[in-house]
Amino acid sequence: MDSILVKGGGALSGQIPIAGAKNACLTLMPATLLSEEPLTLINAPRLSDIRTMTQLLQSLGAEVTSLQGGQVLAMSSHDIHNRMAHYDIVRKMRASILVLGPLLARFGEAVVSLPGGCAIGARPVDLHLKALEAMGATLDLRDGYVHATAKNGLKGGQVAFDFASVGATENALMAATLAKGTTVLKNAAREPEIVDLARCLRAMGARIEGEGTSVMTIEGVDRLGGATHTVVTDRIELGTYMLAPAICGGEVELLGGRIALLEAFCEKLDAAGVSVRETEKGLVVARKNGDIRAVDVTTAPFPGFPTDLQAQMMALLCTAAGTSHLEEKIFENRFMHAPELMRMGANIDVHGGTATVKGVKKLRGAPVMATDLRASVSLILAGLAAEGETRVSRVYHLDRGYEHVVAKLSGVGANIERITEQ
Ligand code: UD1
Repeated sequence: MDSILVKGGGALSGQIPIAGAKNACLTLMPATLLSEEPLTLINAPRLSDIRTMTQLLQSLGAEVTSLQGGQVLAMSSHDIHNRMAHYDIVRKMRASILVLGPLLARFGEAVVSLPGGCAIGARPVDLHLKALEAMGATLDLRDGYVHATAKNGLKGGQVAFDFASVGATENALMAATLAKGTTVLKNAAREPEIVDLARCLRAMGARIEGEGTSVMTIEGVDRLGGATHTVVTDRIELGTYMLAPAICGGEVELLGGRIALLEAFCEKLDAAGVSVRETEKGLVVARKNGDIRAVDVTTAPFPGFPTDLQAQMMALLCTAAGTSHLEEKIFENRFMHAPELMRMGANIDVHGGTATVKGVKKLRGAPVMATDLRASVSLILAGLAAEGETRVSRVYHLDRGYEHVVAKLSGVGANIERITEQ
């Protein structure tokens, strides 16, 4: 199994290109199921999660062709012969549930495996199911699968989400584009990836208003056409690499970055003593002067501080002057990186949903284990700041969400390599 070896060292300088958003691509890809005409995505990230979604779509009968080294995905769903998403694929990736809404909306039936548990929390899909029921779907949960039908097609409905779930909003939005009549989604998620999905669907002929706000109105149409769409920048990859110069010192330009994607995160960086400047090409990030200061962080749905950057922010705060509190409000078990950071000398106390981090002068390199996608990259960031050598094992988590991580970080002067074991 591969591992990543990081040697802590000097300041970083140079540029890092930021890829298209994984989480946008994982909902844009199932959107192909809504139409028999081709959908082409430009600026797709090269990640194992994208390959998993490709397999899932292909298992349904969709054609997915990866062009330009994987940065362009040409898809066509004119011949969907299977409406069942099998457990073997769905269990690998929770986002597989996003085929449910499109299959049901276009074909009036879908069978999708329940995603099951996941390392960072229980993560049920009740909100997805309630939304589809509000549009007239009949649901039956049997043998670990959701059997969904809408004999005469979905109907527009009123959906009020108890929680602004990203995935449930995406599933409902896609389904509503082909429902008869008007659907209103209240307390909808407002993430940039949802705005991106709405833009793509509109290019395919959907009638949508209010994306980026908590109320979206969708007027169903009879059919959707094809489109070519450019995937929005990955704000989580962006935020992750913004933390590299914050932790190591130096100055790095993140190509394609915009502050609007990460305002709450940029405010916290500012309070911690990190400057962020927007340029024509992206964002330039550097430490202001002296030490990193402690800050308190609470995760929240967009536009709040993203849960997907909590682990990486913790890596920064491990060596801040003072005590920081990180409160995790989205997932109930998302501090698995804390014990690994403590192996590197961090002083962290986790109580329920809050981690108290007392800054230490220096972290020390250690062998550590990646437990999930964002946790794994936080250990790499911590390794960049630590004295000595850090070996991060189980890097397959990293491959799900970060393309070319070694090339991107070594390109700005980090001492990092991938060790491939036979
Ligand atoms: C998406 C992102 C993930 C990110 C998360 C929150 C993708 C592929 N993944 O995940 O990286 O961390 O948003 O920003 O886009 N919940 C329910 N019932 C449901 C659905 C969700 O209780 O039916 C709960 C979840 O257990 C969790 C919270 O709501 O505690 C947030 O989940 P949600 O916003 O749905 O996240 P995902 O779409 O799974």
